Amino acid sequence: MHLDQKLTRERFFKILGYALVLPFIYGWISMLKQNRLLHSKTNTLVLPPDLPEGLSFVEPVIISKKSDGIKIFSARCTHLGCMINHIQDGHLICPCHGSEYLSDGSVIKGPSKEPLHELSYTFDKERGVFIVKLV
Ligand code: FES
Repeated sequence: MHLDQKLTRERFFKILGYALVLPFIYGWISMLKQNRLLHSKTNTLVLPPDLPEGLSFVEPVIISKKSDGIKIFSARCTHLGCMINHIQDGHLICPCHGSEYLSDGSVIKGPSKEPLHELSYTFDKERGVFIVKLV
């Protein structure tokens, strides 16, 4: 009788252990799958064909459209990586330490010394959209 109670208690705790651990493992695996999907989705950015003239922001990029073509830059400041989100007098201004860039990505005021990273893109004729490579 005592042995039966002990076995029952052991079984109970085993089942309880599985009941607590299995959902955790399932959630962890789901999170890993989602994370992988997110990463594969965030490697590209899809932009509409009707990009506005001049400078515009579509996080995480800056689009510079002129009569001679379109350039797309990472909006990350090359100083310490803040997101550039401000235009003043045609200059791109970093909100963190005030670096300024021209619309061609070149630096005109530090502390940044490197130009903005230009990103490659293609135009998908079938879908009528720009596809920007973010990496
Ligand atoms: S991070 Fe942009 S100026 Fe420092």
